[in-house]
Amino acid sequence: MNIIEQITALRQQLAQWRQAGQRIALVPTMGALHDGHLSLVQLAFTHAERVVVSVFVNPLQFGPSEDFTRYPRTFANDVAQLTRVGTHLLFAPTVKELYPNGQALHTRVLVPELSTQLCGVTRPAFFDGVATVVTKLFNIVQPDCAVFGEKDYQQLVLIRQLVADLNWPIMIHGAPTVRAADGLALSSRNAYLTPTERAIASQLYAVLKQAATAVRAGIAIDQIEHTAREQLNQHGLRPDYVSIRRAIDLAVPIEGDKSLVILAAVYLGTTRLIDNLTVVRN
Ligand code: PAJ
Repeated sequence: MNIIEQITALRQQLAQWRQAGQRIALVPTMGALHDGHLSLVQLAFTHAERVVVSVFVNPLQFGPSEDFTRYPRTFANDVAQLTRVGTHLLFAPTVKELYPNGQALHTRVLVPELSTQLCGVTRPAFFDGVATVVTKLFNIVQPDCAVFGEKDYQQLVLIRQLVADLNWPIMIHGAPTVRAADGLALSSRNAYLTPTERAIASQLYAVLKQAATAVRAGIAIDQIEHTAREQLNQHGLRPDYVSIRRAIDLAVPIEGDKSLVILAAVYLGTTRLIDNLTVVRN
């Protein structure tokens, strides 16, 4: 696997592939890779001849009191895992390479409506940081397609909106959430959980599944959200939000909307976990 830190060197390699008529897929990550990330890489292989993975812990998407400095960094292990699955190129820029003037960027990319709800309420700078760094990565790599996980459902919807609004000829593929045996969605932040917290954490998925059953049974949405919050509290998971939305655009569902998504964020100790489940109602 080719490991590149610099944009100019990356562009030289990509130009060669493009000249040879090879399609390029990009899988953006922040490292601390697990099987969820690797499933994205595997999906990327089905859509392109060349797969580029980026590993960059993006300071712009962390709030001042969030976990940027302690976010897990496991570069040697990331390299081993990416090599094992056959990744062609790892783009691992330094902060200086992507933000030469520090974070005092003169340009930012905003997707206002989608970024101020759900996770955007407690993390106001998060989606602006994501939209800005993904824009930079798309412009640097100019991939034919890119893969994002459904695990971060709001992020996936926002990226699709961004690509549509800015007319990028980039196909966005969503990849299903990879879970541990007990149902907990794999996440780099699961590393923060104590053994006791880890045992409780699987209740998040259990509650989402119960909510999905209630949606299929035609129970009123407000009531399902309320019950789910109560259940989470009972398990010792402090809900930030539980919200049932329209799957396509995260709008509040109206009668007749069938494809829905149940989204939740909870605090467990100091760790914030998110998960979601799509569901079709009759
Ligand atoms: P990160 O949290 O590292 O996630 C990288 C990609 O892996 C995202 O598309 C995410 O949805 C996906 N992913 C994470 N856990 C997953 C799981 N259990 N199953 C399937 N996919 C999973 O998301 C980011 O980084 C950043 O915001 C980024 C897009 C890279 C911009 O900085």
